[in-house]
Amino acid sequence: MGSPAIIFGAYSPSKTKKEQFYKDVITGLKSMPKRLSSKYFYDAKGDKIFQEIMNCEEYYPTRCELEIFSKKTSEICDAIIGEGDGFDLIELGAGDATKSSYLLQYLLDKKVDFTYLPIDISQNVINYLDTNLPAKLPGLRIQGLNGEYFEMLKQAASLSNRRKVVMFLGSNIGNMQTNEALEFCKTLRNHLSEGDMVLMGFDLKKNPKTILAAYNDKEGITKRFNLNLLERINRELHADFHLSKFEHYPTYDPETGACRSFLISLEDQEVTINDKEHIRFAKDEYIYMEISQKFTVLQTEQIAESAGFKAIDCIFDSKKWFLDAIWVAE
Ligand code: AVI
Repeated sequence: MGSPAIIFGAYSPSKTKKEQFYKDVITGLKSMPKRLSSKYFYDAKGDKIFQEIMNCEEYYPTRCELEIFSKKTSEICDAIIGEGDGFDLIELGAGDATKSSYLLQYLLDKKVDFTYLPIDISQNVINYLDTNLPAKLPGLRIQGLNGEYFEMLKQAASLSNRRKVVMFLGSNIGNMQTNEALEFCKTLRNHLSEGDMVLMGFDLKKNPKTILAAYNDKEGITKRFNLNLLERINRELHADFHLSKFEHYPTYDPETGACRSFLISLEDQEVTINDKEHIRFAKDEYIYMEISQKFTVLQTEQIAESAGFKAIDCIFDSKKWFLDAIWVAE
């Protein structure tokens, strides 16, 4: 790929990010079958649409995990406090820390010795948490870390040698392909020491209709979420996708637990990106957009074991639709 000079100006830190976005989009759309990475859903507009998804009637995972954090706070805390030694509570992709705030408040009330280290790729998120959480939770020791998860985990290890408890919530693990999810857990284990803990959120297999509806809401929010990536490509990479020529198509396979979203081309068409790449779509051809894997409890335990952890506790919501698993590094 040559340097797409039309889009990228003088060097800036965001230049490399945009080049990577361009490269991934072109590679994905030239593949057979075509695909785009769901990690690119989250621009400013995508973040807002995701908020709408989390509040919509059909999307249950956020509500289920919030129920776990608000109603089973003591159960989670008792498991992570361990022998009562001080520890660092690290959150990967902290967002606005709504769920973890329940834990933080409980730990503060119990006068537990801990520091909260939220890690997020967005500096805005870190600034927000560093400023707002201590006001909301007086006495909280917080040190936000802005950057890639594993780089920041290394930094966290260099800041203190206290025991680490790492949270990765929201079933974000489900947005990785099965092999990637296992690799991620192995890499996570390699960044930790024996006795460190992980609190991992998993969306569980359940009635297939309930799952499919969560990704096919009546209001069409999830459809907008998917189409927004085409709009982002138009905006940032100078492309000419006609959004009305693509249809949102979610699927759920109860056997494998794979919930996948596709965009289907409604006609033969050609899309041009940055005046130089021409991508042809046949009528009914699809772009694979996202996987949201659903798990059995046994599968989560197998992932833990293969990655070098022991699964020590399972904390469910009242419907048993969602699991926050507690693992200890062996
Ligand atoms: C962030 N992630 C866990 C969400 C999920 O359920 O896979 C993203 C999402 N995609 C469509 N709706 C929600």
